[in-house]
Amino acid sequence: MKIIFQTPRLILRQFTEADTPLILELNSDTEVVKYLHEPTLKTEEQAKNILLDIILPQYKNNLGRWAIHTKHNMEFIGWCGLKYRPERDETDLGYRLMQKAWGKGFATEAAKHTLDYAFKTLNLSLITARAHIENTASGRVLEKTGMNFICEDIVDDCPVRTYTKANPN
Ligand SMILES: CC(C)(COP(=O)(O)OP(=O)(O)OC[C@H]1O[C@@H](n2cnc3c(N)ncnc32)[C@H](O)[C@@H]1OP(=O)(O)O)[C@@H](O)C(=O)NCCC(=O)NCCS
Repeated sequence: MKIIFQTPRLILRQFTEADTPLILELNSDTEVVKYLHEPTLKTEEQAKNILLDIILPQYKNNLGRWAIHTKHNMEFIGWCGLKYRPERDETDLGYRLMQKAWGKGFATEAAKHTLDYAFKTLNLSLITARAHIENTASGRVLEKTGMNFICEDIVDDCPVRTYTKANPN
């Protein structure tokens, strides 16, 4: 298991192909994908393709979406991490948690430490994040991590709020 970093309550590690059932469980919940520009997954094959085509290729640049486990029982609760978007030449902060883990501050904790990792370890200069304008919880997470609201925009046909944070170091 390749651990990327730990926070007071969480461990973030790289996914592997063996995590296909976890991705299926996460992305098959219609509430989880409600504000995302993605279909609800129905099969293991779809989940495996997400891992092989989208998540694992990001790791070669030290970026990526990392599996989150709670330290106290190692339960998988979702992912958080960084993704390079070549079409906009930006590095994006994202997170997605299972419903059972919502409302405990886990997304904020993971996102704050992901920003620290981006700035201190990877020495990136700017991180961008976007949330659907109706995704109030996600917007709140971005505010709590200290990201700055830039504008409302249409991106990939979705109305979103864009936030950025520059490397303070
Ligand atoms: C968005 C998401 C990651 C938030 O995770 P979380 O661990 O519950 O977030 P936190 O507990 O760290 O913080 C959530 C904040 O939003 C607030 N919040 C939650 N739901 C809300 C709502 N419907 N309206 C207003 N505020 C809301 C919480 O009160 C909390 O703020 P507070 O600490 O000031 O009280 C989680 O809901 C999720 O995974 N959703 C599905 C995937 C997704 O939308 N990802 C983001 C894509 S941009």
